[in-house]
Amino acid sequence: MIWHSDELVEWLDPYDAFFSINLLVDSRGGICEVGVYKGGYLITMLRNNPELNAVAIDPYPGLNSIQETFLNNLLSYGLEDKIKHFPDYNSLKANLFDLIHIDGAHSESAVIKDLHFAKDNLANKGLIVIDDIWHPLFPGVVSATMKFVHESDFVPFLSTRQKMFICRENQYEYYYSKASALLQKFNISHSSGWAKGSPNHQGVLAAFDQSNAIKGFPQLMIDRKSKYEQLIVLKIIADTNRVPRKILKQLLPPFLVLVVKKLANQTRNLLTTL
Ligand SMILES: C[S@@+](CC[C@H](N)C(=O)[O-])C[C@H]1O[C@@H](n2cnc3c(N)ncnc32)[C@H](O)[C@@H]1O
Repeated sequence: MIWHSDELVEWLDPYDAFFSINLLVDSRGGICEVGVYKGGYLITMLRNNPELNAVAIDPYPGLNSIQETFLNNLLSYGLEDKIKHFPDYNSLKANLFDLIHIDGAHSESAVIKDLHFAKDNLANKGLIVIDDIWHPLFPGVVSATMKFVHESDFVPFLSTRQKMFICRENQYEYYYSKASALLQKFNISHSSGWAKGSPNHQGVLAAFDQSNAIKGFPQLMIDRKSKYEQLIVLKIIADTNRVPRKILKQLLPPFLVLVVKKLANQTRNLLTTL
């Protein structure tokens, strides 16, 4: 997976990019994002799948400089003909996208509206990905999503620390087993179907094993890991000139970190005395 580790992907976790890229069934309908910012999600998707085209929806309220950065990013990655920007989806003709990522306004009413747009513009085998589903400041996101799920034929099958992946009920078996196979192949820690009971501070089992199903459909829940741990689990080398310090720290055993630091200090001292 191609991963650009600078501020382009400040809102995107490696696991979320990985599952969005690898769960996509088709590329012909293209993808759509509501809430684009600098384009981190869309640009990552298109760099990893050159067959894709995308529609980007964002009014950029009071964010002119961010919109400019987005347009410049499209130019610098040569994607200006592949990603079309619109301030809203009202003027779009009907589409059958293969994936729709919802990450725009985070109020309950806005997310409900976006989910209905997604439902009406998604291919039968398509995926809806909802961002900030567990965000402590935006409970309307999970509330709107669950309302939508219970009133439609959509159901979640996979959740990461930021996103929920949902599909039509008739596609659930397919997506659940495809996501399970990816989790196993890459040894990504998660729970499937059951939440394990855990002991309290006295060592007594305080919570018992329970089903995590929604509408009767068991859920794949990925354990929370930092961005850097996710990159390591996926064995991704970021395409940047400088390996971020935190990654280096996690890749090297502690004594080697000390040796590297010492050598760097000695070199710096030597250079300043020259
Ligand atoms: C968190 S950022 C999106 C990050 C982006 N998805 C990424 O992965 O880099 C939220 C974006 O939602 C946009 N936004 C705000 N209100 C919106 C609306 N009503 N419809 C669509 N987008 C909206 C903001 O302009 C901002 O760019």
